[in-house]
Amino acid sequence: MSAEQVRNPPVRRLADWSASRLRGLADEHGTPLYVLDLDRVRENYRRMADAFPEAEIYYAGKANTARPVLQALADEGAGVECASAGELARVLDAGVEASRVHYTAVNPPARDLDIAVQLADDHPELTVTAGAEDTLDRLAERGYSGRICLRVNPGVGAGHHEKVATGADAKFGVPDNRAADLLEDAAERFSVVGIHAHAGSGISGDDLSAHRELVGRMGELAREVESRGLGLEFVDVGGGFGVPYRSDEDPLDLDAVASATREALGDISADLAVEPGRYLVADAGVLLTEVNTVKETPESVVVGVGAGMTTLARPAIYDAHHEIRNLSAEDATRPDREVTVAGPVCESGDSFGDYWLPDPARRDLLAVGNAGAYGYEMASQYNSRPRPASVVLSGDEARLARRRETIADVTAVELEEQR
Ligand code: LLP
Repeated sequence: MSAEQVRNPPVRRLADWSASRLRGLADEHGTPLYVLDLDRVRENYRRMADAFPEAEIYYAGKANTARPVLQALADEGAGVECASAGELARVLDAGVEASRVHYTAVNPPARDLDIAVQLADDHPELTVTAGAEDTLDRLAERGYSGRICLRVNPGVGAGHHEKVATGADAKFGVPDNRAADLLEDAAERFSVVGIHAHAGSGISGDDLSAHRELVGRMGELAREVESRGLGLEFVDVGGGFGVPYRSDEDPLDLDAVASATREALGDISADLAVEPGRYLVADAGVLLTEVNTVKETPESVVVGVGAGMTTLARPAIYDAHHEIRNLSAEDATRPDREVTVAGPVCESGDSFGDYWLPDPARRDLLAVGNAGAYGYEMASQYNSRPRPASVVLSGDEARLARRRETIADVTAVELEEQR
């Protein structure tokens, strides 16, 4: 490992977290508890910026919109990619400069467009990424004539699960072969500044050829558009940089991805832009949860924990694997045992899966790894279960980023007369 890799390793494993610090946080704030280390977020950003020194980096805020995360990344120089009017409003409110904010409008509801156009009135430096001709018309109808980026469907998708491979899904972007004409038309009504494509999420080294193909097509399109006399500020090749969810999995070779990107893009005058979400926050976060029940059955030992699919939805939705560590049994006195770790929701999908863990006992504290991305963001109140708290760390400091919800928060939206 180089000195730089020692200072800023390409991955932080679940085993690298301090058990005593995590136990202290669980004691203070209760569980389930999301913990996110801002120092690691900054390290991840710096590694990305080092690999792509020539690129503009837009953090895909959907991975984790906690205000301190948005602010830490903006301080590092990142822009933010927003997926909805809500994210847009929060990102601007967190103080991110509008010139560093992109709003990706995917089949945007009218309410989202109304808000986005209103916000763009106050912040004309905002960029809206449209993925359909119809979205351009709807923006124009609302009097929008500002900065537009066109999302293209590159026809190549990749990702950790079919549900997150967007590149070849007709839902996203305008067809590749229509893009240049649409951009020319759009230039009559808007200030056309960029083109965009996103292959999917959780791309591994094995998907490099899909990535190369996508970037290559974007390079061709940029050259075609430039030859028609349209100057572009940027070519955005999306996010999707994967992280190792298993302890024996290698981290993505970011330098290899960056050089493949450069090579495939070829010569263009526009700047390169990338939109990493997961890569910046996943390994900066853990989810702490307590063992409620240990049940021996003829088939397996079921370890019931407080966190479930309402806390971390990824295992239930994508069959995603997250490493688990028993923080209460670190002294090697308890033998490992194969157990099924399951949540408190009455659905069989509410399970983290099977693990070998130091024999879990009631009240043990477990840590779930790589929970910084798409964890809290996808949490729900299903079963009238309040969402957990989340704490952010910075150096030795820990502060509450989101307090634990109460049942009163769950019912707060009900109308008085219905109570
Ligand atoms: N740009 C666009 C336009 C996107 O739609 C996304 C993610 C990203 C960037 C960032 O992708 P990332 O770098 O985080 O892979 N909930 C799923 C992931 C959904 C990703 C949606 N779009 C999961 O937990 O795996």
